[in-house]
Amino acid sequence: MNLTIDRERLVSEIEALGKISEAEPPVVTRIVFTQADLRARARVTAKCKEAGLEVRQDAVGNTFARWKGSDATAPTVGTGSHIDAIPNAGKYDGVVGVLCGLEAIRTLQKAGFHPKRSIELLIFTSEEPTRFGVGCLGSRMLSGVLSPEAAAKLRDVNGESLEEVRRSAGFEGDLRSVKLAAGHYHAFVELHIEQGPLLEREKIQLGIVERIAAPASANIILEGAGGHAGGVLMPDRRDALCAAAKLILEVEKAARSTGAADTVATVGICEVFPGAVNSIPSRVRLSLDVRDTDLARRDGVMSEIARSCEAISQERGVSIKAELLNADAPADCAPKVVQALTDSCRKHKLSYLPMVSRAYHDSLFVSRIAPTGMLFIPCLHGYSHRPDEYASPDDIARGTLVLAETLAKLAG
Ligand code: GLV
Ligand code: MN
Ligand code: MN
Repeated sequence: MNLTIDRERLVSEIEALGKISEAEPPVVTRIVFTQADLRARARVTAKCKEAGLEVRQDAVGNTFARWKGSDATAPTVGTGSHIDAIPNAGKYDGVVGVLCGLEAIRTLQKAGFHPKRSIELLIFTSEEPTRFGVGCLGSRMLSGVLSPEAAAKLRDVNGESLEEVRRSAGFEGDLRSVKLAAGHYHAFVELHIEQGPLLEREKIQLGIVERIAAPASANIILEGAGGHAGGVLMPDRRDALCAAAKLILEVEKAARSTGAADTVATVGICEVFPGAVNSIPSRVRLSLDVRDTDLARRDGVMSEIARSCEAISQERGVSIKAELLNADAPADCAPKVVQALTDSCRKHKLSYLPMVSRAYHDSLFVSRIAPTGMLFIPCLHGYSHRPDEYASPDDIARGTLVLAETLAKLAG
């Protein structure tokens, strides 16, 4: 089979999608269920229909574009990713997984390939946690990791429920129908930018993921006492921000203390109330994100942070409450998907690196219900979640070629 990727079409579609943003391009901000997200979905869905794919959307907005195989009842081969983007992001995170997936299907069609199993392109809803505080909302639900009851209780940053927001975005239906039937997928493979510098640094063309790290995340609320910045003397203070500052450094220390490169911890949000120069902070909200490829080690760091909360609370007379949002287990990629990706790299004499994914992805949750693998393409300086995120047309095309071949092999 002679596969020729239409790289001009693919790159121009990535560029066009990047312009659908709540911020001024090249900045991409595309929060789930906003007008920008809905316009981007409509654009990709129209392209899928042009390619002859049958499109369906579930109650939470996960979108499935199906290329029917000759055995319509056989378990399906899936590919895809997300098109939502965090504030101030770039145009490749998630998007390459969707648009390279579509291009891989079109390339196979053009080459005259007829799959036995159906091949399904997925656009997952809200891989990013920006709006509802929990990442991979769509894939968590379709894999059954997040129950419909728990999902219905989620509220966004403005207090609106997932139930209200998804319905006003046009996604009706019962959330209980989102979970896929067991055995729906024969295999799943997601192409993604690496979001780290290793491929570029080692001058290696592709990354084949063997293990996906998993996050635990929490909101931490610190409550002390406010007051006048001039009037309240230092010995009498219970400053919530000073306690938070100490806690943030303890978070960093706990992650470093494992000595493992795979342990990382981040406090990415610090909201201070009332937030006035001459007022002592009475309340602080911190976000906490701790990740590892080793579950016990990750949970050890979480316990260490809990001990620090207790100690700082005692020492400073500030109450500290942590609300755990999720604590997911890492995943191993499936040998049959890893093998199919490896075979394709070897066939085309492409260099590849077995890798760990330190970012999480929808694949982490799909792996709970299907043999799953991931293919990484390099990105400039490893930049991601920033507007200057970049992947070259050559790398995008190479990844698409390997993805297309892998889908063909898995679909039979
Ligand atoms: C996904 O975007 C992540 O934070 O790993
Ligand atoms: Mn991301
Ligand atoms: Mn992503």
